[in-house]
Amino acid sequence: MAWGLVSMTLRGLMLMVILLWTVTSTDGGDVHVTCVFSEDCVLPCSFQPDSEEVIHWLKPEDKNLSTIHSYYYSTDQLKQQSQPYRGRTALFNDQIPKGNASLLLRGITLQDQGRYKCYTSTIKGNKESCVNIAVEAPVRLVDIQLSDDIITCSSTGIYPEPKLTWSTDPPSDLSFDPGTIQNSTSIKVDDRGLYDITSTKQFSRDRTNICTVTSGTVERTTTLKQQDPFQGSPSSEVSIPCNVSQSDLMTFDLTWRFNQIVTILTSSYTNGRPQMQVDDQWTEQVQSLSDSGSLQLHKLTMVHQGTYSCELSTARDTHLILTYLQITPGQQSRGRIAVIVASAAAAAVIIAVVICSLLKANTNGPNENGHSGIPLQNGEEREEDIERQEQGQGEEGSATSTILMP
Ligand SMILES: *[C@@H]1O[C@H](CO)[C@@H](O)[C@H](O)[C@H]1NC(C)=O
Ligand SMILES: *[C@@H]1O[C@H](CO)[C@@H](O)[C@H](O)[C@H]1NC(C)=O
Ligand SMILES: *[C@@H]1O[C@H](CO)[C@@H](O)[C@H](O)[C@H]1NC(C)=O
Ligand SMILES: *[C@@H]1O[C@H](CO)[C@@H](O)[C@H](O)[C@H]1NC(C)=O
Repeated sequence: MAWGLVSMTLRGLMLMVILLWTVTSTDGGDVHVTCVFSEDCVLPCSFQPDSEEVIHWLKPEDKNLSTIHSYYYSTDQLKQQSQPYRGRTALFNDQIPKGNASLLLRGITLQDQGRYKCYTSTIKGNKESCVNIAVEAPVRLVDIQLSDDIITCSSTGIYPEPKLTWSTDPPSDLSFDPGTIQNSTSIKVDDRGLYDITSTKQFSRDRTNICTVTSGTVERTTTLKQQDPFQGSPSSEVSIPCNVSQSDLMTFDLTWRFNQIVTILTSSYTNGRPQMQVDDQWTEQVQSLSDSGSLQLHKLTMVHQGTYSCELSTARDTHLILTYLQITPGQQSRGRIAVIVASAAAAAVIIAVVICSLLKANTNGPNENGHSGIPLQNGEEREEDIERQEQGQGEEGSATSTILMP
């Protein structure tokens, strides 16, 4: 028994000596493993199972050989363990008798990259193998913000060094697109060694603006376009379209935001069923979400004037559509009037003038009511009132327009 221990210790020591000699020699049979930054990673290693196992995981660093993890006398031996690996390593001890010497390394950092040696020995003999570790912090989110016609695309916490490219759909002639001339990209490294990338360019108003960030084998794209502004009023309903097909809705997550920051609602499909969540601040305004992703709003006040963004996202891509909603207090933009407006533009102007004067004459104008969140019954009465007014105005309007039209 004592001889057994001595022989094992001797074997351990001899092994260390051999290691020191051979560790710098390159080995064609390396196993390559890509580990994800901050996650756990398994470094594979196996040997012919037998008794009296000795396992050393080692890493040549500069000219020294760091001990990552050692195991002999049927137990972990961590006295020599290199400082950066303290508390982060484990063997699968129950698997060692089966010839599995794989190492679990927790909380991967960029310093963990490199070549590791796995030395194993049993009474039958010894073996060495190498594992090459690459670390990746894949691009996760590509954020696009639009402000004063300058579009900013950014992504953070990436490794290896990312690339960012802009394009448009339909494609624009690069030499004439002011966007590509003003394009400027900057990259910085954070304290963990990860890259942050940011780029700005002139917004191409009439096209879809596309920003793509690539790192390693991972590519993520975010697109942004702006559609024509919409009009709303405190007393009307507004439907802001997102222009999504039903199939897109089932594969993408949909988020409506206000002024690009405040989340209004999120919708996603889980097990083929739509799940919608409306933010507490918006339950009063959000009426519904249509099958095509349109946001239906009502009971709007001036504070709801701003940019509404519809964001469709999968793990790979994000598509943003911005729509400016202008709130015009007191103006009736109901379907009935819209039809009249469409039939004669001249009549519309006159109708608007007439409505304004009528509303001024009426001291209980809908403008004040619209702001004060009145009970439903009053609201219904009010709507009937308005409808009666409209009918009267409609007649007046068309009567006037026939006079105007020769
Ligand atoms: C290498 O090891 C020597 C002696 O153990 C130590 O003095 C030196 O600082 C080490 N170098 C590095 C880069 O770890
Ligand atoms: C060793 O065991 C671990 C944990 O069960 C497993 O993930 C790994 O695939 C095994 N490796 C080999 C070479 O059997
Ligand atoms: C943006 O500018 C950088 C350097 O100024 C250039 O390398 C890159 O190709 C430009 N990208 C586009 C899409 O024009
Ligand atoms: C909506 O989508 C259809 C088909 O995908 C497209 O032809 C149309 O131009 C889109 N409309 C807007 C306003 O983007």
